[in-house]
Amino acid sequence: MQIDKIRNVAILGAGAMGHGIAQVFAQAGYDTIIRDVKQEFLDNAILKIGASLDFLVSKKSITPEEKEAILTKRIRTTLDTRAAVGDAQLVIEAVPELLDLKRKIFREVSAMAPEDAILATNTSTMSITDIAGAVALPGRFVGLHFFNPVTKMKLVEIIRGEHTENQCMDVMTAVVQKIKKVPVSVLKDAPGFIVNRINAPNQALMNAILDEGKIRPDEIDTTMKRMGIPMGPFELADFVGIDVFCHTLEYYAEKLSPDYKPGKVLHELMASGRLGMKSGQGIYKWNGEKAMIDSSKPSTDISPKEFLAIQLNEAIKVFKEGIARSTQEIDQAVVHGMRAFAGPFALCAGMTPAQMTEPLTQLQKRFKLDIFTPEPELVDGSFKKFSTN
Ligand SMILES: NC(=O)c1ccc[n+]([C@@H]2O[C@H](COP(=O)([O-])OP(=O)(O)OC[C@H]3O[C@@H](n4cnc5c(N)ncnc54)[C@H](O)[C@@H]3O)[C@@H](O)[C@H]2O)c1
Repeated sequence: MQIDKIRNVAILGAGAMGHGIAQVFAQAGYDTIIRDVKQEFLDNAILKIGASLDFLVSKKSITPEEKEAILTKRIRTTLDTRAAVGDAQLVIEAVPELLDLKRKIFREVSAMAPEDAILATNTSTMSITDIAGAVALPGRFVGLHFFNPVTKMKLVEIIRGEHTENQCMDVMTAVVQKIKKVPVSVLKDAPGFIVNRINAPNQALMNAILDEGKIRPDEIDTTMKRMGIPMGPFELADFVGIDVFCHTLEYYAEKLSPDYKPGKVLHELMASGRLGMKSGQGIYKWNGEKAMIDSSKPSTDISPKEFLAIQLNEAIKVFKEGIARSTQEIDQAVVHGMRAFAGPFALCAGMTPAQMTEPLTQLQKRFKLDIFTPEPELVDGSFKKFSTN
């Protein structure tokens, strides 16, 4: 499949991610069709896309005529899989994160889509190779990991499964550029890919802080927000959902290290249904979409320095494991996938190894978590000589 042959894009699933993916493709001129299982889900997706396009019109980013063309000509909806994928050169799946469901859908799609179509999954955690096992031609199967909200987040991780062909990676890179996003290739199908993997040990630290009970989440979040971050890490966990947070940790515990196992506090929150914003109470009490955070006292114990050291240490692992092409691309992924000011390699370039290893060693001793062990290249500073291209 060549880039200029891709005209029709099918999106499976009209939820939080699917409707945003459909919008960015339609805005880039692609004929887009969204498939879901209920008409009300499709109607809801169109309403959300309409509201988002209205906002762009109000900002003069697009004209009212463009909005009309996108909504009435470039986006269609259907309840029928064959109607969605029968004439598609690219199919992107964004259904719930259930392996059996994804494999079942791709088995059908593989039989219904044109033979040379590229099939992509937006999974945030699963192995691309496992999902690709359901299709006839895994060489044309790829991970296309968008970030939420799709219309605002620039990064798309393009994940190579065990059988993905080079040409498929190249075409996807060109497509992602065409929809005005930033492509970063994930060269190995590894848990968390790049951005989520680099964040994983910080989630383990939050879990450990909750169980230790010495620092209040308010204190950490207040410190982070004073650095200009819109949401503190505990607030974000509540916002996304304590259930999602726990499932992610369980997944990393199974795939990366037992150090990730959710602890006592998270289990208690889950058991009592305190799932965060959606249930009105999680780590924090929520008033609608606002967490009740006491921001009078910042943390003087654990601060952004610890979170950064952990991020850099994990980024070094990501580079050494051959998951990313260069330290530059890792930084680029963090900037565009987390809306960070800079990536860990750039932020730590001027620091001495001891400034990064000391917090890690202290955290490792304090919480007895081996995932914080400083990498040898951090200890001797040689990570600064990693190839940058
Ligand atoms: N939400 C996020 O922050 C985020 C970020 C990155 C990736 N992801 C991944 O994107 C995928 C979708 O997540 P989401 O948050 O949009 O989920 P969602 O629950 O909001 O939407 C999923 C949609 O898929 C539909 N669906 C179910 N079965 C279907 C079928 N057989 N055919 C077509 N549609 C079907 C559902 O009705 C629903 O509308 C998941 O794999 C998730 O891990 C999510």
